[in-house]
Amino acid sequence: MQKPGFIYGFATASYQIEGASAERLPCIWDTFCERPTAIRDGSNGEIACDHVNRWQEDVDLLSSLGADAYRLSISWPRVLTADGAPNQRGLDFYIQLLDRLNQKDIKPFVTLYHWDLPQFLENAGGWPSRDTAYRYRDYVDVVTRAFGDRVFSYATLNEPFCSAFLGYEIGIHAPGVADKTLGKKAGHNLLLAHGLGMQVLEANSPDSQNGIVLNFTPSYAATDSAEDKVAAERADIIHNQWYARPVLDGAYPDMIDDLPEDERPEIHAGDMDLISQPIDYLGVNYYTRAFYRADDNEAFVQVPPTDNAVTELGWEIYPQGLTDLLVSLDNNYELPPIYIAENGAAMADKFVEGQVNDYDRIEYLQSHLGAVNKAIEQGIDVAGYFCWSLMDNFEWAEGYSKRFGLVHVDYETQCRTIKASGYAYRDLLRNRKHRQSPTA
Ligand code: FCB
Repeated sequence: MQKPGFIYGFATASYQIEGASAERLPCIWDTFCERPTAIRDGSNGEIACDHVNRWQEDVDLLSSLGADAYRLSISWPRVLTADGAPNQRGLDFYIQLLDRLNQKDIKPFVTLYHWDLPQFLENAGGWPSRDTAYRYRDYVDVVTRAFGDRVFSYATLNEPFCSAFLGYEIGIHAPGVADKTLGKKAGHNLLLAHGLGMQVLEANSPDSQNGIVLNFTPSYAATDSAEDKVAAERADIIHNQWYARPVLDGAYPDMIDDLPEDERPEIHAGDMDLISQPIDYLGVNYYTRAFYRADDNEAFVQVPPTDNAVTELGWEIYPQGLTDLLVSLDNNYELPPIYIAENGAAMADKFVEGQVNDYDRIEYLQSHLGAVNKAIEQGIDVAGYFCWSLMDNFEWAEGYSKRFGLVHVDYETQCRTIKASGYAYRDLLRNRKHRQSPTA
């Protein structure tokens, strides 16, 4: 496919914005949110940003902000019925949205799985069950046939690390399972689902750009000690390379041999070839870096960041980490073109007299776009950048307490207000839209 000019977009995800939960099947996040202490503010995605009812206004927003592209995700439980058959009403919701985006010349980047597994599939074993990967394949088949040629780019999965590790290994995300063996199994079956999904995409949607979105939190040693360096390397393998290496190299990191036998994923013949088939692009999500020290009981322990400024989530603001990450990926792998599929910051926004003057977010975005540009200057093929997020939304275990949007959402009235960062991003897009790189 011909390489487009540099693409600027906004990202969201289904569970975080859609609401209208009664019009779809339950998913693992609905169930997880019912646990009394799972979500910081006790909230859930029942209403969220009411996007299902306000999608036209939201597309108008994207258009007024001058977006080249919009990265959205499909809610698997919205497009299936309880017996697993396609739900035409749910499919039609997305079809009208995609049509409108295309009419407005906004390229749809569709993520097929951003964490909202139908609950009936969790009841049948969830991601630790190999069968879920095949159910995912069937779902991708239904969706891609229904969408035809409306989609510019598909991502099979968003951040399988989060689904597997946070969801099944340490249990701070849905479905809230804390089990090392199940976590590793879930991870492998997610990667398998990616491979199976790529096959369907190549058959049903060969003209779209098809790939996967992985998150990276680069690991740094807390001190110069040899032990801490080893700890940081281990954290990097478990958090980052565990997903990148199978997809890009067709093998798990060697550390797999050190795992106790019952913690090793079940790898069938042919799995790694399926997982590592060519992708048109790699989506990279970057927010921050992390520091680690050695520990007698654990392989690594995370320690607080440096003195650099942090966001509302306590995440260190470290743009150089994005350049370094892209350079190190390029050094270690044969990379396809890259999209920065998510980057952004939760900030302590103040809504005053109808305005949000989030200059700290503007600075965050500018410095990270600068970091992308530095990587491009070093020869890395970055094709686009998506800020997280179009609007404030349900931030998973943080509920509505943390705001990432470039557009403010008043959850009482559902009123959207473009923040100063939204205007700044719009102006950047207006001025540089036809250029090939973020700051050329
Ligand atoms: C990423 C998720 C996204 C959003 C950001 C802040 O890990 O993909 O949905 O919550 O973090």
